[in-house]
Amino acid sequence: SKVVLAYSGGLDTSIILKWLQTEYGAEVVTFTADLGQGEELAPAREKALKLGLKPENIFIDDLREEFVRDYVFPMFRANALYEGQYLLGTSIARPLIAKRQIEIARQVGADAVCHGATGKGNDQVRFELGYYALEPDIHVIAPWREWDFRSREALLAFAEAHQIPISKDKRGEAPFSVDANLLHSSSEGKVLEDPAVAAPEFVHQRTLSPQDAPDRVTEITIEFQHGDPVAIDGEAMSPATLLTKLNRLGHDNGIGRLDLVENRFVGMKSRGVYETPGGTILLAAHRGIESITLDRGAMHLKDELMPKYASLIYNGFWFSPEREMLQAAIDKSQEKVAGTVRVRLYKGNVTVVGRESPHSLYDQELVTFEEGAVAYDHRDAEGFIKLNALRLRVLAKRDRRA
Ligand code: ARG
Ligand code: SIN
Repeated sequence: SKVVLAYSGGLDTSIILKWLQTEYGAEVVTFTADLGQGEELAPAREKALKLGLKPENIFIDDLREEFVRDYVFPMFRANALYEGQYLLGTSIARPLIAKRQIEIARQVGADAVCHGATGKGNDQVRFELGYYALEPDIHVIAPWREWDFRSREALLAFAEAHQIPISKDKRGEAPFSVDANLLHSSSEGKVLEDPAVAAPEFVHQRTLSPQDAPDRVTEITIEFQHGDPVAIDGEAMSPATLLTKLNRLGHDNGIGRLDLVENRFVGMKSRGVYETPGGTILLAAHRGIESITLDRGAMHLKDELMPKYASLIYNGFWFSPEREMLQAAIDKSQEKVAGTVRVRLYKGNVTVVGRESPHSLYDQELVTFEEGAVAYDHRDAEGFIKLNALRLRVLAKRDRRA
């Protein structure tokens, strides 16, 4: 059989590659995606060649623009946060990897796909729900659930026996597990496992500590069209370029760190340290432009739908009819979410200090404490309040009788 492996070029997926060849007797095709994880991709090709792959069986794709344009930005239109805090940086990348893997499987005539997620986490669910949604009869191989290596030592012995190079720092166990892309980096496990103990500073990889950030304010403007950011300080940029730029600004100002205990879909709690510098700026700015361009009814309904939408993404249901239904509603709400937001970045904080839009619903004439506007008659407020108070008064009277 022929299998497409999601391959990072690291030790674990190299072992998986070899294991597929020797234990499964499979012909392996590797797929390595550039999602902005900040790693060179050339070494992945070199390693795959060394492990005996033919050049035509090695796929390396730059998916950064597609990732930000078709996954990250649509998600940010919803202001999605899982459990109130997590910006879903890992969750939103999995469906794109799954989709591309299936496309490659079709192209090369493979009957199976394989990933390197463990049997305890969310990622196995996300990959596999993606595979099945797009290719219902695909054969899925999840080595971490299938092989019988019982220890790290057994795994390393297998690597050694098959001449898989093991870098010095991998001999000992890695101090924690990392997943990274243009939206975020996440660290879990090992030194982070005790939620009572603060994460060491060295865990952080894409933000300065707020204490070390400059003592001066950085002010930027972000322009939006249809709910998506399109320019910074008047300079139009592609989605991936714009997010890269926000990441730099966020990094320099210590923005977007999160230390969270969350509920995994498979039932356990886990502790993670997340860094989402650009995304944290973007969320604040997007809420800023929505605050003047969205009607209250639309805004409040969005906020009610948001936790459901976020859970769907967290749980791996990107390719589901209910996620698409919610997306259609969210996208509809963004038609007039356009204009410019001014934000200040300072020592871990993002503060919206100004917003402007050609579609603004903000009416200074209506809200001002000066001279009354014609559309609003103070006397109307009296009946409005009285009718709203009616049931509260009935209740109060009953309770006084009791
Ligand atoms: N807990 C996060 C999620 O489920 C991140 C998972 C992957 N992170 C990792 N360090 N391996 O989305
Ligand atoms: C993994 O288990 O592979 C990473 C963590 C997760 O998927 O939740």
